[in-house]
Amino acid sequence: MVLGLSANLKRETVKSDILSVSVCGFRFEDVSLCSTEKAGRYQGNDEKREEPGPSTRASQVRRDSRLQTQDPRLLMIKRILVTGGAGFLGSHLCDRLVEAGQDVICVDNFFTSQKSNIIHLLDRRNFELIRHDVTHELYLEVDEIFNLACPAAPGHYQYNPIKTIKTSVMGAINMLGLAKRVKAKILHASTSEVYGDPEVHPQPESYRGNVNPIGPRACYDEGKRAAETLMFDYRRQNGVNIRVVRIFNTYGPRMHPYDGRVVSNFIRQALAGEDITIFGDGRQTRSFCYVDDLVEGLLRMMDAPDDFPGPVNLGNPGEFTIRQLAEMVVELSGSKSKIVNARDLPEDDPLQRQPDITLAKGKLGWEPNVNLREGLERTIEWFKSIDLSMFRAPTPNY
Ligand SMILES: NC(=O)c1ccc[n+]([C@@H]2O[C@H](COP(=O)([O-])OP(=O)(O)OC[C@H]3O[C@@H](n4cnc5c(N)ncnc54)[C@H](O)[C@@H]3O)[C@@H](O)[C@H]2O)c1
Repeated sequence: MVLGLSANLKRETVKSDILSVSVCGFRFEDVSLCSTEKAGRYQGNDEKREEPGPSTRASQVRRDSRLQTQDPRLLMIKRILVTGGAGFLGSHLCDRLVEAGQDVICVDNFFTSQKSNIIHLLDRRNFELIRHDVTHELYLEVDEIFNLACPAAPGHYQYNPIKTIKTSVMGAINMLGLAKRVKAKILHASTSEVYGDPEVHPQPESYRGNVNPIGPRACYDEGKRAAETLMFDYRRQNGVNIRVVRIFNTYGPRMHPYDGRVVSNFIRQALAGEDITIFGDGRQTRSFCYVDDLVEGLLRMMDAPDDFPGPVNLGNPGEFTIRQLAEMVVELSGSKSKIVNARDLPEDDPLQRQPDITLAKGKLGWEPNVNLREGLERTIEWFKSIDLSMFRAPTPNY
């Protein structure tokens, strides 16, 4: 084996004959491993193939006892793929992973996000950006995958519903195929929408939901349900190491200001001094989780024991009516906006939503720390700091 150490800071996955991996800015080149590549490791996401070998080549290099390093940090670094990594949640997750020193690959097609969310990471040596659509296959060597790519706001996912369900289902198949091929752990971002308009309140993971399979939200709800099915089928059939989290309403800095979601709408309207428009009578309830809490939950779930694949609810159980939210936004932003009833509730809009987080508390030791008032203050500050003219609405019907 030849182990080369160079000061080149750029990580390269495969060169013709040499595997190279960078850790802490140094590149290790392991010529001996090129034989495994020739034996067929890099043949694509072929579902039928049985992959030889215990692990990905990157982690093989790191775990190889022949690697002559005394620095334990080098052996801890994981190569982590975040799909949808330029989005609202994904960009915060990338921040945490980059700060932790992991080797982060962000994949995004920028449908509902823009580079400004991750621009501060572009010159970090352990961060890499790939513009890619997850409905197409992707060949990478990674140890962990956070699969977040999917439009999440109703106005975004209903714009092109067929593409939405393709993103959920084909995206999941492609990422699971990748996870299977390189033996990576994969966490899938599912949603409280799998519970539909719930008849059980609050919603535990055991509740199977009340989803209208042919309604306007079905492209998202059923797409996410099918993706959960795929996750568990890949676990049962192929032994893929999976994690499923069901995320409830999350808010915070870097939400798309034109995503049409209730928190961003209200803050934008309040700061502009416009009427705050609530749908229905405003008595429908939601729970709101601050983004930092949510990201902590994602990280804990990825690190949870392998015999706990989920699904697990992640959300803040504090329940508020939409009118209470509007009143708090007006108060905290010092706005003179009036709260008005703008229109009827959209079709299939759930009347109440509140996570039961008993499982997350017990299995992950996780619960949210940031209350709604504090989280809204931070979010309002961010909205004040941005130039709205720099954001384009991803779809006309936000
Ligand atoms: N924010 C929430 O309240 C919430 C709640 C439940 C579930 N989730 C889930 O969490 C994930 C992230 O949500 P978010 O709030 O950050 O939304 P977001 O729209 O800000 O982020 C989604 C990202 O995925 C990208 N994307 C969309 N389609 C893609 C494709 N085909 N290929 C590659 N990239 C694609 C978008 O450009 C965007 O950057 C989603 O899967 C969403 O369903 C979020």
